[in-house]
Amino acid sequence: MGKSSWMIGTPKGSAIWDGTGLHFGPPVARVDDIADSGEALWLAYYRSIFNPARLNTGAMEMHMPVRYWKNLPEGKLIPELVSRAGTGGQRVGQAKEVDVRKGKTIDIAPADAQPQRDAPTDLDQCRRCDLWSMATQGVPGVGPDHATIMLVGEQPGDQEDLAGLPFVGPAGKLLDDVMQQAGVDRDTVYLTNAVKHFKWEPRGKRRLHKTPGQREISACHYWLEHEIAAIRPKVLVALGSTALKSIMQSSKVTLNSMLGNPVQHDGQWVVATYHPAYVLRAPDEQLKAAAFADMVKALQTAERLIAGDARHH
Ligand code: URA
Repeated sequence: MGKSSWMIGTPKGSAIWDGTGLHFGPPVARVDDIADSGEALWLAYYRSIFNPARLNTGAMEMHMPVRYWKNLPEGKLIPELVSRAGTGGQRVGQAKEVDVRKGKTIDIAPADAQPQRDAPTDLDQCRRCDLWSMATQGVPGVGPDHATIMLVGEQPGDQEDLAGLPFVGPAGKLLDDVMQQAGVDRDTVYLTNAVKHFKWEPRGKRRLHKTPGQREISACHYWLEHEIAAIRPKVLVALGSTALKSIMQSSKVTLNSMLGNPVQHDGQWVVATYHPAYVLRAPDEQLKAAAFADMVKALQTAERLIAGDARHH
């Protein structure tokens, strides 16, 4: 289970792993509370503990030859679970299974059930919202330690989620074009996102981007704040509304009100412009060209603000 916390509750006692230590606690249920109709419970349990990250079909076949699988109640689940493990669908399936089961109220104080954890020190440990459970990995920012410009996107897309790097997919290519046109070298800026895990929903075989909600933006602000504190850029360029809401720490701020209107916020300049995906999806060439030009202008404004700052010091 790696760094995930878990609890085993039985009528005789409980064991809780909080990510750093093992705690033993009181019983959490009476036998009557946890009794369920045998096979259905076992199958639901098997489905939910099946860990696609640890899948090793070779070892499974070694422990029990495939011809005997049909004698196991869970045998009929295995081929489906194995084939879904590769597509990332496994977690979605698990969530659904758990969702439809009524569940039982466990008689245990919340503090005992989940002892206080330290603040996460790296993205792998982050459970500040639920997005980690659907993503391949958290995607931190990249760039020089003392970059003067930080570009903040929305969240990693499909390719970024797999690569563990921001802006490597189609939006990243468009951003490269914008930077080239603005005369900004990609290697000199810090590139990151307001939300560090890919939020998506299955659509056939594809993972369809979903816009993060305010709760996820707020939860992930923790990481953006750390990046800003470490890099101390002079200008933050918000690419789209999600980035702007996170930077300004306001769910009310609108992109329209800030386009072409740099403001100072918490000791940095904030320049807002469109998200590259907005340019990619613009319905006509005129809108596309205007949005692209605004992005170029925003980067040039950022450079000017830095030059102006340097003159004042
Ligand atoms: N879109 C973003 O906002 N960020 C990325 O890293 C990729 C696509």
